[in-house]
Amino acid sequence: MLDKFNREVDYLRISVTDLCNLRCFYCMHKDGVSKLTHESIMSPERIKEIVYEASKLGIKKVRITGGEPLVRKGIIEIISYIHEIPMIKEICLTTNGTLLKEFAYKLKEAGVNRLNISLDTLKEDKYNKITRLGKLSDALEGIKIAKDLDFKIKINTVLIGGFNDDEILDFVKFAKDNELTLRFIELMPIGVSKELDKQSFISNQIVLDRCKELTFDHNDGVSDVYRIGNSNGYIGLISPLSKSFCKKCSRLRLTADGKLRPCLHSSLSLDTNGLVGEKLKEIIKEAILLKPKEHHLNIGSDSDKNMNEIGG
Ligand code: 5AD
Ligand code: SF4
Repeated sequence: MLDKFNREVDYLRISVTDLCNLRCFYCMHKDGVSKLTHESIMSPERIKEIVYEASKLGIKKVRITGGEPLVRKGIIEIISYIHEIPMIKEICLTTNGTLLKEFAYKLKEAGVNRLNISLDTLKEDKYNKITRLGKLSDALEGIKIAKDLDFKIKINTVLIGGFNDDEILDFVKFAKDNELTLRFIELMPIGVSKELDKQSFISNQIVLDRCKELTFDHNDGVSDVYRIGNSNGYIGLISPLSKSFCKKCSRLRLTADGKLRPCLHSSLSLDTNGLVGEKLKEIIKEAILLKPKEHHLNIGSDSDKNMNEIGG
């Protein structure tokens, strides 16, 4: 359905857990303890109920996020249930990739069409530093397995000044060699990342300045996509700060404890708990109509949460 600013809202992003097997320093606290009680987490059946009502209002695409969705118990069941809803045409999942060895095949069988895999460095020591717990080889292996299974894949790389901006050309080479789309995302000052140094926040313009091989190819929703030379590798630029995409925002978010969030950068939240049928549909409608015109990230995010609690 249309929101107040004539945007078609057809995309629901569901965070299925706030837990993660990694602890990226810009996303989570180092202890990574869940703020949600076991009882407050939506069951697979409840998630299906909400998605079904949302699909009646025109939601066609669902993204499963976290935290890390693959640490959520019953993740395959959740996806299979969503896959049963006829109006849902696409199921995507955002993951850090390190558990794909175990899950990729099951995800494919359950009906996932697309995977977005996070990768913020190509260096083993830095990977361990940024994720505090992870191994680069697990993420790379996950990407390879997903590719071999013919998933549509995008790699997400959050660009952090002074941390991985020296690897921009390596990332471009990685996308070219592996014939993948890799998207650079501007670091957003939300949750724990608000505490990072000012120089960590850099504009995606730096990618275009450094890499002369890129030619604009097309626009894909929130990202401007550039082709790398004549190759089958592409670079996407997602620039929430330097080039806000609020005008094209088609999304609604649902947190693991059943709260609808009309905007990532606002603390506005509507509780779906206890509502069924028509009442549930009405609150989803209300959340869509409450979508703000735009965020004010240049002043600061209004959100009271960390990324792992809302979903990236
Ligand atoms: N700014 C931009 N992207 C972020 N992510 C997590 N925190 C931030 C932030 N502050 C990204 C992750 C992953 C997705 C879940 O969200 O790197 O790609
Ligand atoms: Fe986990 Fe992704 Fe957050 Fe890293 S950025 S801690 S992988 S949810």
